[in-house]
Amino acid sequence: MNKKLKVGILGGTGFVGQRLVTLLENHPFFEIVTIAASKNSAGKTYHEAVKNRWKLNLPIPENIKNIKVKDIYEIDTIKNEVDFVFCAVNMPKNEIRVLEEQYAKAEIPVISNNSAHRSTKDVPVVIPEINHEHLKLINSQRKRLGTKKGFIVAKPNCSIQSYVPAINALMEFKPKKILVCTYQAISGSGKIFSDWPEINDNVIPFISGEEDKSEQEPLKVWGHIENGEIINAKDPIITSQCIRVPVSDGHLAAVFVSFENKPSKDDIIKSWKNYISKPQTLNLPNAPKQFLTYFEETDRPQPKLDRDIEKGMGITLGRLRDDSLFDYKFVCLSHNTLRGAAGGSVLTAELLKTEGYLR
Ligand SMILES: NC(=O)c1ccc[n+]([C@@H]2O[C@H](COP(=O)([O-])OP(=O)(O)OC[C@H]3O[C@@H](n4cnc5c(N)ncnc54)[C@H](OP(=O)(O)O)[C@@H]3O)[C@@H](O)[C@H]2O)c1
Repeated sequence: MNKKLKVGILGGTGFVGQRLVTLLENHPFFEIVTIAASKNSAGKTYHEAVKNRWKLNLPIPENIKNIKVKDIYEIDTIKNEVDFVFCAVNMPKNEIRVLEEQYAKAEIPVISNNSAHRSTKDVPVVIPEINHEHLKLINSQRKRLGTKKGFIVAKPNCSIQSYVPAINALMEFKPKKILVCTYQAISGSGKIFSDWPEINDNVIPFISGEEDKSEQEPLKVWGHIENGEIINAKDPIITSQCIRVPVSDGHLAAVFVSFENKPSKDDIIKSWKNYISKPQTLNLPNAPKQFLTYFEETDRPQPKLDRDIEKGMGITLGRLRDDSLFDYKFVCLSHNTLRGAAGGSVLTAELLKTEGYLR
């Protein structure tokens, strides 16, 4: 019989943690056995810890309501309960960096939603449809950490998860310059409207650290491995502005792009429609059947209408047009807490299991 892997969620009481909890209910490969969070939640049942701050429209899964929340630093206990952990804590970066390494060194693989290790040269930053071959870095990372099983894999920032897939499908035409403006939902900062009344009727033209991540992280995703480390790609050059808008879920991006070998519009749309990758060929449980969907309608994609396509794991695109400064412009959308966070990490875990890195 195929036994399910036992999973812990660090930060399981937060927004991304709640998404993870619902995505893993009845998962064919994984079962949640441990949830850990801060000292404030430790000792309470999961239901007690989240009942006044459950942020999803879905119910709290019955089978985890009575799990007693642990402190994330109970590593000696947790390491005997789980096969691997998802990490979705919201803490200072230096503390998360240490925490995730402590788990990896205790032989517990970590799939991280945090930015703490995204620039560590031997930590793969993975979008499974784009750079699954970067998982090979795990072997050199294990050597550095002195582990047999433990490692850290990170998921990139939610802001890049619409335009990087869209551009990746066009790599044969050698994209050289990208300008992107993102319009990011409030769940990206762990909030719903009742937490943040000032966002109603408003737009906030600043998200701390987001532009740097939006410009740099794609270059790691598009990088190559040399001597057990990632060498970031040198191009395309990316410039960005990231803006918070009064939308619950779904990050939209307005993209301008120029190529070395300019494709036709038909070439672009064909490349988007035909894009398939390893998660699709392996038929992983959370892989979207159609990764990129192009709308001919002039007013799509829209967060409210389109963020849930393919259970929130698909990317939607529209409004491909010629541009006067760049070759083309278009708009794209991804669900930030599904594709951009919890769903992306669950898909990464499915790939890791199928490829033999999680046992
Ligand atoms: N929201 C998104 O769309 C999104 C997308 C991509 C990545 N991320 C990243 O994912 C992480 C979590 O984001 P979120 O939006 O889910 O945050 P959140 O709702 O604020 O949840 C934070 C979690 O971290 C725990 N925590 C906070 N301080 C802690 C401490 N000192 N010790 C132990 N646990 C602590 C909280 O536990 P208590 O409940 O006990 O306080 C809670 O479980 C962040 O790094 C964020 O940048 C978020």
